[in-house]
Amino acid sequence: MSQFDAIFQPLAINKLTIRNRVISTAHAEVYATENGMPTERYIKYYEEKAKGGIGLCVCGGSSPVSIDSPQHWWSSVNMSTDDVIPHLQNLADAMHKHGAHIMIQITHMGRRSRWDGGNWPTLMSPSGIREPVHRATCKTIEPEEIWRIIGDFAKATKRAKDGGLDGVELSFAHQHLVDQFWSPRVNKRTDEWGGSFENRMRFGTEVLKAVREAVGPDFAVGIRMTGDEFHPDGLNQDDMKEIAAYYDSLGMIDFFSIVGSGCDTHNTLANVIPNMTYPPEPLSTWRRASAVW
Ligand SMILES: Cc1cc2nc3c(=O)[nH]c(=O)nc-3n(C[C@H](O)[C@H](O)[C@H](O)COP(=O)(O)O)c2cc1C
Repeated sequence: MSQFDAIFQPLAINKLTIRNRVISTAHAEVYATENGMPTERYIKYYEEKAKGGIGLCVCGGSSPVSIDSPQHWWSSVNMSTDDVIPHLQNLADAMHKHGAHIMIQITHMGRRSRWDGGNWPTLMSPSGIREPVHRATCKTIEPEEIWRIIGDFAKATKRAKDGGLDGVELSFAHQHLVDQFWSPRVNKRTDEWGGSFENRMRFGTEVLKAVREAVGPDFAVGIRMTGDEFHPDGLNQDDMKEIAAYYDSLGMIDFFSIVGSGCDTHNTLANVIPNMTYPPEPLSTWRRASAVW
């Protein structure tokens, strides 16, 4: 028995049995072409991983559910339209043929984007505060828009299911729109979407409810979340554990995928996407590198 044997044990997620624990986590491939459709090049990129024996790929890092979360800059998969379904079917077939499973990460990025991409929409955030990395101006999101985007998450999840994918990973990570609501440093609202812990969690809760209503209990649905915002006035690891426990207690999710840091400043971005000069230090030392905004 070697110390790596566990990697080759099957992993159960909802009704799925993943053949091993080798997983490709969501990353923006910048490969979806033709208005956000995952065509041949995209599929081949994942099929090679399946051929190599991987258990699960979470594709489509940060794939938008709504027209006002610009897809253009990252060439991510456009999950806001039914046009994507046949392409997802091709992708699912290519993976399943080799015994691998495939899910997609879906999101609304809120203020975390450029202002001039794709359909040129107005970016939105809980309280209209700009993100230091992209620096785009954004408006304060209105309740009607919140409810429309909650519906968009449900529709996108249904598209993933109809396209034969094995599940979705909801991005509540990297200070995208859902976790922008979590953080009091970004969410200054005084209505039912801000203030108390439960109010700040409400957007994510409603997304989960809508998603489950759209796809039922047997489709694998998980959350990717940040382990620590790494800001002195941000959500720390204890806060994130409390948030994870809260969503877990609702009984609607099958897995959590935790990513080390948020990325709404340049220094925290370097925690998530380190460049080749980044020192190979333990995570505990990264906190010192984080910027104060
Ligand atoms: C270029 C690049 C793009 C990424 N895009 C995403 C993304 O869209 N969504 C996401 O959840 N993580 C994204 N990640 C983070 C990776 O999934 C992964 O967590 C990170 O590279 C650290 O690896 P580790 O979690 O195994 O330590 C990205 C990483 C890289 C290098």
